[in-house]
Amino acid sequence: MQLGHVVHVGARSVQLDVTDDASVAAALVSIDAEQGRLDVLVHNAGVLEAGLDGPAALRSFDTNAAGVVRVTGAALPLLRRSSSPNVVTVSSSTGSFWAVTDPERPGFELPLALCAASEAAATVLTVQYAKAHPGIRFNPVEPGTTATDMTAAFGIGRPVQDSARVVVRLATLGADGPTGTLQDERGELRW
Ligand SMILES: NC(=O)c1ccc[n+]([C@@H]2O[C@H](COP(=O)([O-])OP(=O)(O)OC[C@H]3O[C@@H](n4cnc5c(N)ncnc54)[C@H](OP(=O)(O)O)[C@@H]3O)[C@@H](O)[C@H]2O)c1
Repeated sequence: MQLGHVVHVGARSVQLDVTDDASVAAALVSIDAEQGRLDVLVHNAGVLEAGLDGPAALRSFDTNAAGVVRVTGAALPLLRRSSSPNVVTVSSSTGSFWAVTDPERPGFELPLALCAASEAAATVLTVQYAKAHPGIRFNPVEPGTTATDMTAAFGIGRPVQDSARVVVRLATLGADGPTGTLQDERGELRW
């Protein structure tokens, strides 16, 4: 499993499993050894469980929410060494009340209970990190419905390149950029 890489902003890939503390620690040790700092952290790992039971809930929250905690905790020392650190959580407005109750939204009728609930947790975690670490910008993002492996069974979504733009925008904010906001490509979203 890999963090995505965007060559034109100078990123590289590091293998890690966000459900495994040792794997996360090893990835950050590797970044420390090679770079000595971390400018951008994008929490993109996510799973969409089809079932709705205890084991599926644990798997969903382990990756989608606890993964954010594991990786952020391990990354904080390296983020603090960056002159302009940004953390972006690829979350979803399906974790927001206004969106999950809107029949006009694309995901309204999809079986997204655990994905939506765990993305809600990821969004709130990210905002709490923003409050606790004012020197680092933390913003969750709604990428838009995107054609990926996750959505292939539903046959929905736009090209990944279109959704990646808003992630890159938030990942490259300057020091005066917002923090603790939930955004999509049009700007800030309400909760
Ligand atoms: N697609 C959409 O319409 C949409 C909408 C809103 C939000 N999102 C969110 O966007 C994020 C990316 O989803 P996607 O649509 O691109 O789905 P995807 O194609 O299924 O990609 C999910 C990614 O997460 C990685 N991953 C899963 N478990 C992991 C773990 N334990 N450790 C490290 N990486 C792990 C996968 O790596 P491997 O392939 O190596 O397993 C894969 O690269 C997710 O958080 C999703 O909830 C997607």
